[in-house]
Amino acid sequence: MAYKTKEWRNAMRVTVDYNYMMSKSLGDKGITDGDIKAVKEKAEGAFRYVAANRGRDDLFMGWTELPYNQDAIVADIIATAKQVRKKFKYFVVLGIGGSALGPIMAFNALCHLHYNELSPSKRKGPKFYVEDNVDPVRMAALLDVIEPEKTCFNVISKSGATSETMTQYLIISDILKKAGVDIAENMIFTTDAVKGNLQKIDASFGGKVKKYVLPDGVGGRFSELSPVGLLPAAVLGIDIKGMLAGAAYMDNLCSKPSVAKNPALACAVLQYITMKQGKNINVLMPYSDNLKLMADWYCQLWAESLGKAVDYDGNLVNAGTTPVKSLGVTDQHSQVQLYIEGPYDKVITFISVANYATTMPIPHGCEDIPDVGFLGGHSMQELIQAENKATAYALMRAGRMNYTINMPEVNAFTLGQLMYLLEMQTAYTGAMLNINTFNQPGVENGKKATFALLGKKGYEGQKKEMDSAPALDDKYIV
Ligand code: PA5
Repeated sequence: MAYKTKEWRNAMRVTVDYNYMMSKSLGDKGITDGDIKAVKEKAEGAFRYVAANRGRDDLFMGWTELPYNQDAIVADIIATAKQVRKKFKYFVVLGIGGSALGPIMAFNALCHLHYNELSPSKRKGPKFYVEDNVDPVRMAALLDVIEPEKTCFNVISKSGATSETMTQYLIISDILKKAGVDIAENMIFTTDAVKGNLQKIDASFGGKVKKYVLPDGVGGRFSELSPVGLLPAAVLGIDIKGMLAGAAYMDNLCSKPSVAKNPALACAVLQYITMKQGKNINVLMPYSDNLKLMADWYCQLWAESLGKAVDYDGNLVNAGTTPVKSLGVTDQHSQVQLYIEGPYDKVITFISVANYATTMPIPHGCEDIPDVGFLGGHSMQELIQAENKATAYALMRAGRMNYTINMPEVNAFTLGQLMYLLEMQTAYTGAMLNINTFNQPGVENGKKATFALLGKKGYEGQKKEMDSAPALDDKYIV
């Protein structure tokens, strides 16, 4: 069934404005139509690659189909979320990386900015926390504010072998056991269908733990539209059908192989061209507190997907650009000076919002002080939008490349569009770079080194190698 009316969906369309990337605005500092033409074949090749392989589990491209193949799962998640809301005072996600950043981002985007501080009658669900670290102080702080026996813990790990998540699990399950709580009652696992340790753990509880599947062909950072993100979102009362409908809507907008007609391909081409020009910093700057953590989510998506040593032909390419998170207008007072006058090594992507959830009128006052008086009679929405426009303009006048993703408002449907747009942009850019966008060999090496340091069986060789590596030298300690 279609989501809302066609008119409403079209009014909620997310668009990309890249005028301030082009030579028409930036003179010789900008991209020309000729530059875009020069990579046309490569861009079309990337489009064809993604179109031909979409949905393929073996290539980790299952995420493309998530807007379409989850009807039964969504119904189940909505029913479970209803029970969780009835039964529990707190909902805690145990996970890290791709298993944590999506749920936090959606919470930030679509819930009240002080959600946990609201009275229970004003909240749609239980208090919500995501433990995406193993900082002992953070875990202790969580335990100070929740009551474990009144908490639903959603353990999210595809492998069930991630030290951080499983450490969180061990601590929490020990507390529940000691409190005499049946773990199967207070935990939900989101994991691989057959592989992985959470399946074994569930088996040890007689298969009684409620489980959701993180599909085989969906990697962590592309998983927010799978049960990884859908269950926490549904518990929070977020319209998960709207999120999926938004993703499907954006998928349709990205169904043409032309830069002029496909927003994700346009963004990928801009990023690719500027990358080749040596611009190696990619800033995402939403002008919305609700989208602040979208920048965190995007940083992982971009960095882990495109930061690769070799391409598909085995060439050493050391690909990728460094994503930077920024927030408008806050970071106008911290980073923008550098963006306007520093090196020409950045592309800035703004996310602008046309209608904020509230406008907040600014009262008249201090009329005799011109620096203050002019603000009265406007609204905070007008001010933030004016500052957004002014910053983009100032960057353009300084010859600095920037483009804007326009969101009519921040809601489940537009958030779904934005996520899918950024995922598609990443997939197209990876295909243009001829690299594997969906693996993370560098992260795996760090994991193995941690195993060795903590004495995990089977990693003795690695430990030996680490012990014989250059030792710390007092000479360089100050
Ligand atoms: O994007 C990724 O694949 C990673 O960030 C993983 O999500 C992260 O390492 C957690 O892995 P797992 O879900 O196996 O615990």
